[in-house]
Amino acid sequence: MSGKRIAIAIDGPSGAGKSTTAKIVARKLKILYVDTGALYRTVGLYVRDQGVDMHDAEAVRNLLPQIRISVKYENGAQATYLNGENPGEKIREPDISMYASAVSAIPQVRAFLLETQKEIARHNSVVMDGRDIGTVILPDADLKVFLSAPDEVRAGRRCEELRAKGIQTSVEEVLADMRKRDADDSSRDVAPLKPADDAVLLDNSGMSADETADEIIRLMFWRYKKKRKFNFSYRIIRALLRGPVYLFNNIHVRGREYEPTADQGPYILACNHIFWCDPLILDAVTRWQEAHYMAKKELLAIPVFGRFLRSLGVFPIDRSGKDVDAIKRAILMVNTGTALGIFPQGHRNPGVDPRKTVIHNGVALIASRTHAPILPVGMRTKDMVHKTFRRTEVIFGKPIPWEELLEHGGREKDYNRMTEYIFSRICDLVESKDE
Ligand code: DC
Repeated sequence: MSGKRIAIAIDGPSGAGKSTTAKIVARKLKILYVDTGALYRTVGLYVRDQGVDMHDAEAVRNLLPQIRISVKYENGAQATYLNGENPGEKIREPDISMYASAVSAIPQVRAFLLETQKEIARHNSVVMDGRDIGTVILPDADLKVFLSAPDEVRAGRRCEELRAKGIQTSVEEVLADMRKRDADDSSRDVAPLKPADDAVLLDNSGMSADETADEIIRLMFWRYKKKRKFNFSYRIIRALLRGPVYLFNNIHVRGREYEPTADQGPYILACNHIFWCDPLILDAVTRWQEAHYMAKKELLAIPVFGRFLRSLGVFPIDRSGKDVDAIKRAILMVNTGTALGIFPQGHRNPGVDPRKTVIHNGVALIASRTHAPILPVGMRTKDMVHKTFRRTEVIFGKPIPWEELLEHGGREKDYNRMTEYIFSRICDLVESKDE
């Protein structure tokens, strides 16, 4: 999946927790959250402010040429602009919900907003929430979820949301509004609220927004895992390489019992770095379906060799500065089920005691964003100098769960201390006694 844009569609009635959940999913997967309801709300706001009857389809249609809607992302949050101005929280006022629902039943309004929504997904990896995302806007989404919960549960949530914003209302009032709106949204002729045929139906009553988001990420993970089964070229190259890599590097593996299995979810493999061939060695010894390694971008720029490495899932990182894109890509990979291989030393260190080398903290950063366990791996050979046919030992250590890392960092963002801990575990393996 490297480099491919991903699209997750979340549809469902109001109060199902779509936007809260989608925002968490977006944050965890490092992709864009698109709130499509905001677009309909913005049209609704304009209709209200012009004093036009929301049920007069012709009058609403006549207003459309006066409306320009654009979406911008400011500090990671969506801002929906109406004729160059950001109406902010005005689109969240309770009566705007009714306006939005009414105008959304007008085919010309839907057509008017269609391209804006598709355009965002063409250029970004997205999690989009709405009513017709899986059916109309993103029919080819990687994952479609139809989120719901009983009416009373949803009304209770919406009521709390409104109260938190200082809008006083009763559950009964919200419930009545919600039922009317759901009935209107489901019964309209064009793009009615309904699950896509291939949507996963998820009732999240009794689940927190975090739990719902984790469930969606898990579903995404399994989707990708299924798709990857068909990544034949990668698998063939990897299978063909295994024999020669084992032979020329005289590989011996220890600690196999610690290697995570596919049903335990993705992991981050962190290893010391001796020789340029280390990613190939790790790729040959690990049994995970698909593993990706970060390598300096100069290596991948070498004409034929670079392409060969890319075909093996190696992806570039620019070590001259903070390569935010590479880190984001790595986070997305781990969150969608890929094993990620990373060398905290950054450079090869032939002939050097790993404890005396410089380490970089990308590994802790990625762990803190994914909460994936870390598999420490020690690689050693005589004098830490690689030679063809010289015995190379690859030693897997006990995986480090995120909670353990957190204890050693003290705080969520103490990446330096976390990295030191991870690397000390790697060094322990390098120095461990032969069995
Ligand atoms: O998700 P929301 O409450 O902000 O949406 C407001 C209204 O907009 C909702 O009642 C129906 C409509 N809508 C729609 O028809 N299609 C979408 N994709 C999103 C919202």
